[in-house]
Amino acid sequence: MIDWIAAMQRRRSVRHFASEDLPEEAVAGLRMATEAQEPLDEDVDAEVQLVPYEAVGSRTAVGAVGVVDRAPWYLVGLAEPHPGRMEELGFRMEQVVLTATAYGLGTCWIGGFYRPGQLGERLDRSGDEVIAISPVGVPQSGRRGRWIQAVVHGVAARGGRRKPLEEFAFWQRWGAPVQRQAVPPEMWQALEMAQAAPSWSNVQPWYFLMSENMVLALGDSRPQRGNNRPGRPYYRLDVGIAMSHFWLTLNQLGYRGSWSSLGGQEYLAHGALDIPEHIVPIATLVL
Ligand SMILES: Cc1cc2nc3c(=O)[nH]c(=O)nc-3n(C[C@H](O)[C@H](O)[C@H](O)COP(=O)(O)O)c2cc1C
Repeated sequence: MIDWIAAMQRRRSVRHFASEDLPEEAVAGLRMATEAQEPLDEDVDAEVQLVPYEAVGSRTAVGAVGVVDRAPWYLVGLAEPHPGRMEELGFRMEQVVLTATAYGLGTCWIGGFYRPGQLGERLDRSGDEVIAISPVGVPQSGRRGRWIQAVVHGVAARGGRRKPLEEFAFWQRWGAPVQRQAVPPEMWQALEMAQAAPSWSNVQPWYFLMSENMVLALGDSRPQRGNNRPGRPYYRLDVGIAMSHFWLTLNQLGYRGSWSSLGGQEYLAHGALDIPEHIVPIATLVL
């Protein structure tokens, strides 16, 4: 049984790996994780594959260039065209990423600088279905690891630091920051874990609008740092990752609800809410 909260607290993007292979036990555990994640919407066709470097063909296919080293294994996130596919893949693949973290392994979501077409060809899938990947390897610290971290944080939004909770968690109406005493401690912790989630260039485009018995997850659709590409709105994938952190925390702390995806109906929900035009409702969680 994975301690998800510990994994979320521990996870950081790792881009520098030792040359050694993964322990067999970790490969077996990761394979199981790729076969059994909790879906957001089980009707959306999304999956995560675990593939060895030898199967991907070349360093450029998986973006093992510049600040990201080659790793012995890769997670490849695939999803068929569907309006909800980005959040679905974020929600599911983050569970595999956190499983890797629980085994002490390093990962890094990669959305750019790899070749989906080349990778898809190797996996007998269309490049359009390849949405994101992550190297998986034994983390290597040392000078190069620290240098890479400094470079990446230098270019990431907020120098790699997270948005304060009051900027993305609202109580009852848009823009009204949630107060710690207004929510049960488990809910506050779920927000803190969402805050720790990884996102495209650390943009953190997610919002949570909460009331006594319901949470609404929303995303900022304005293009930021290249995160909204044609057919690939990565801001929605980021919201799926944050929803995964929120839900895994509540689940570990004894809550039994699950997210219901708005899957294409978000514009109906938008009309009923007093929220800015560029904010997109993505899913609801009944408490
Ligand atoms: C969808 C997505 C795509 C990302 N793409 C890249 C990438 O192409 N290259 C990279 O070095 N990091 C990438 N990242 C990692 C982010 O830069 C990182 O999550 C963010 O800066 C927060 O840092 P942390 O993961 O260490 O907490 C990506 C993250 C996400 C969620």
